Amino acid sequence: MKTQDFLFQSLSLKDLSEILRIVLNIQQYQVPGFFWNESDLRAELQVAKAFGCFYSPLSSELKSEALSSSLEVQQSSSLRSFLFARVVDEKIWDITLLGVDPAFWGQGMMKFVLQTWLQSLSTPCEIWLEVHSQNQQAMTFYLKQGFLVTGRRANYYRDGGDALLMVLKRT
Ligand SMILES: CC(C)(COP(=O)(O)OP(=O)(O)OC[C@H]1O[C@@H](n2cnc3c(N)ncnc32)[C@H](O)[C@@H]1OP(=O)(O)O)[C@@H](O)C(=O)NCCC(=O)NCCS
Repeated sequence: MKTQDFLFQSLSLKDLSEILRIVLNIQQYQVPGFFWNESDLRAELQVAKAFGCFYSPLSSELKSEALSSSLEVQQSSSLRSFLFARVVDEKIWDITLLGVDPAFWGQGMMKFVLQTWLQSLSTPCEIWLEVHSQNQQAMTFYLKQGFLVTGRRANYYRDGGDALLMVLKRT
């Protein structure tokens, strides 16, 4: 993966259909605890900050030029990943949802999104999240990014699954 071909951008309600497309693709894999529908996503977009990664191989060449409207259309149809995070207070963020279009899993996409977002935060800060205890894929990802398990909430998910609480402390 060439990270210069990816555009990290803030997302808003105008990106809802693209986020929903990725969520529906992920749900075909029956990821534990990944229960989101359009109205949940819409509500979350109204309270959380959202970021995403668009595939745009032309982005590096066009950096100094005004983006044409046709390029914007191309970008809006090529969202590959997203991350939602709520501000708890000025030093604490809570990641409520993140995902990558399954066709691009394992290519460093979410690592790029997470690291790019983290670099924009002032330090010190803490990043909190919950993950379904059986979501091994996400657990592995979070542990590799330096998150530590700090607690457990029994029966947190609608399937009766437990949530593991994880924290990343940035100094
Ligand atoms: C979890 C998820 C976001 C990871 O995104 P990704 O773009 O595939 O992850 P990356 O390619 O950036 O991987 C980063 C690191 O995690 C590791 N990793 C990611 N998925 C892994 C897996 N299934 N098994 C083992 N390691 C994995 C990678 O090996 C990589 O390690 P490295 O830093 O040592 O190279 C993605 O699998 C996903 O969308 N899952 C479904 C949605 C979900 O569960 N969201 C979390 C709950 S809201």
